[in-house]
Amino acid sequence: MALIEPTKLEADNPSIIKKNSSAIRFWHWLNAIAIIGLLITVLINSTVLKPRKTASIVQTEMKNSGTTVTIDQARNVVNALSDKVWEIHVYIGFFLVALFVFRLITEFFQLTEQKFITRFKKAWKLFFIIKQQREVSKHELVVKSIYIIFYCLLLIMVCTGLSLAFEDNLPFSKSLMHNIKDIHGFCMYLILGFICVHLAGVIMAERKDSKGIVSDMINGG
Ligand code: HEM
Ligand code: HEM
Repeated sequence: MALIEPTKLEADNPSIIKKNSSAIRFWHWLNAIAIIGLLITVLINSTVLKPRKTASIVQTEMKNSGTTVTIDQARNVVNALSDKVWEIHVYIGFFLVALFVFRLITEFFQLTEQKFITRFKKAWKLFFIIKQQREVSKHELVVKSIYIIFYCLLLIMVCTGLSLAFEDNLPFSKSLMHNIKDIHGFCMYLILGFICVHLAGVIMAERKDSKGIVSDMINGG
């Protein structure tokens, strides 16, 4: 059964079937919020809660209020706060995993013309086989390929993130875990790159020849 059944009106008039299904719109905005949340936790831990810098602030503030603590004690306080922020990171991470699974299920149960794979195949066919509207289909193919790269990155983040979260229960060696953490950290930069390209692309499209795409992602189109 399709996640979004066409109404009778839609079934009789395929042209009014929405460009973006409600499931995709729901996924898109929650996914964006979750990723921004994850990035904020990383930002907090790599700036405000950097042990070396923040420990001396804690030490000075404690001294001003009449308590003397060693730099190691101050560092322990900062580490404890940082661990709390990582806990939040992991909770949001689990939410992102659930959203990823939801996105996969959506792809299987959507109406054919709303499926990502259908749109990708269409752009591929137009560009490589029919060789018509080459400029439009080339643009479409590039955009969709960037989305495929993003989905692959998301898969990597989900797998490496889950491995880190369940580190104690997995039979992985220390050096493998170290590599997994490095991959997880590195892919963040690629995701940041995607977000920049995506936002720039959406703003340019909205200003030029695809006016209303943002509202299409809100109300379906
Ligand atoms: C962390 C932030 C974001 C991520 C990770 C993200 C990711 C994505 C992905 C993967 C798609 C393709 C969906 C599909 O067809 O399967 C998409 C489409 C889209 N996104 Fe985002 N997005 C983000 C933020 C935003 C924001 C802030 C806006 C609005 C300003 C936006 C506007 C759109 C639009 C209009 C589309 C449809 C474009 C098209 O038809 O090619 N996105 N986004
Ligand atoms: C776009 C999504 C994500 C981004 C940008 C992101 C980013 C990061 C970064 C930069 C680190 C630090 C890595 C290091 O120290 O080298 C980290 C750690 C971690 N992430 Fe993620 N992450 C994401 C998704 C997830 C997901 C889906 C999970 C799964 C639950 C997850 C779980 C973890 C865990 C358990 C750690 C280790 C925390 C610690 O050191 O105590 N992350 N993440």
